[in-house]
Amino acid sequence: MSSTTVSFIPDLHLAPLVEPPQYITLAELGYEPTADSPIAASKPFPLFTAEAVRRIRSEIVHPDTLANHMFSDDYSPCVIRGHCPERAPFTYNAWTHPEVTQRINMLAGISITPVYDYEIGHVNLQLGPRGWAGLKAEPDLPEAQGQIATQEEILPTIFQVPNWHNDSYPFVCILMLSETSTFKGGNTILRKGDGTSYICPLPPIGHAMILQGGQVTHAVSPTDSAQERISMVTSYRPTNPLVADRCFLKTVRTVSDTETLQKQWLDYRLRLLAERILKGTGSGQSVDSMSQFAKEQAAFLEESVRQIMDPVERIPTNTRGGYLDWREAQSSMVAV
Ligand SMILES: [Fe+2]
Repeated sequence: MSSTTVSFIPDLHLAPLVEPPQYITLAELGYEPTADSPIAASKPFPLFTAEAVRRIRSEIVHPDTLANHMFSDDYSPCVIRGHCPERAPFTYNAWTHPEVTQRINMLAGISITPVYDYEIGHVNLQLGPRGWAGLKAEPDLPEAQGQIATQEEILPTIFQVPNWHNDSYPFVCILMLSETSTFKGGNTILRKGDGTSYICPLPPIGHAMILQGGQVTHAVSPTDSAQERISMVTSYRPTNPLVADRCFLKTVRTVSDTETLQKQWLDYRLRLLAERILKGTGSGQSVDSMSQFAKEQAAFLEESVRQIMDPVERIPTNTRGGYLDWREAQSSMVAV
């Protein structure tokens, strides 16, 4: 059964959770527990049905999404960001649906909230054997028939080496949108406290995992270049506004529409401050504790502005240009 509206309907789109959640803890990886949650990562769990995956992919592969929301830098060969909610209403409705929120909270071990709209539905995109032409609502499988793209077309979208990093936000939910049964590589790898690696099992298509990615250094292992790999990442922070905010922008500024990101970031930090003021102060408190609170929030505001001003080390690249050139070549071939 196929739905045609942009509504997320749990009976059609939320995959049933058939087994109890499984986790790997920070302690098992050799990390100190954080105040947020003892969980480092969840094992893969079912999140969205095949129909929901098809709908989410159709919003990613739309030519207007690719032409306007594709970014890249020396750490992220090809990402799609900021297409929610305008160009991807179904994807946005999926990630913000109360039943999805409930599933995510259960797997994270605490109540968490998407940081802001720009971080809902971030896509990491690696092209499959048919290159840009193979990018469809249905996954591009290696054994599918059709023209095989050149490596020149595919390589700019591929992770050549593990991209070790910590995320800009405390928690992420990583959703797999490609068929992984024939994958070589493409796993999320976690760096343990002793410097060795823990290789997370590959989520099957429609499955997801939660990662405390701000705390745990991690990477994606390089993938066979003949395999399409599309994953979606939504970033979260603890819902409780009084928890120390550990968000920053250094990993996302070079792969974002800067003005939109900065506006949503500042709006988020100011709203968080407003929530803190309502919850964290009161005339019943001592002058000393209210003064301390005021000083901490002043530092929080300064840091909020510094995050959009400080230089970043990452270097933007132009994968989008390669896509637009390909598209122009296709239209001129049709015209001939
Ligand atoms: Fe990450």
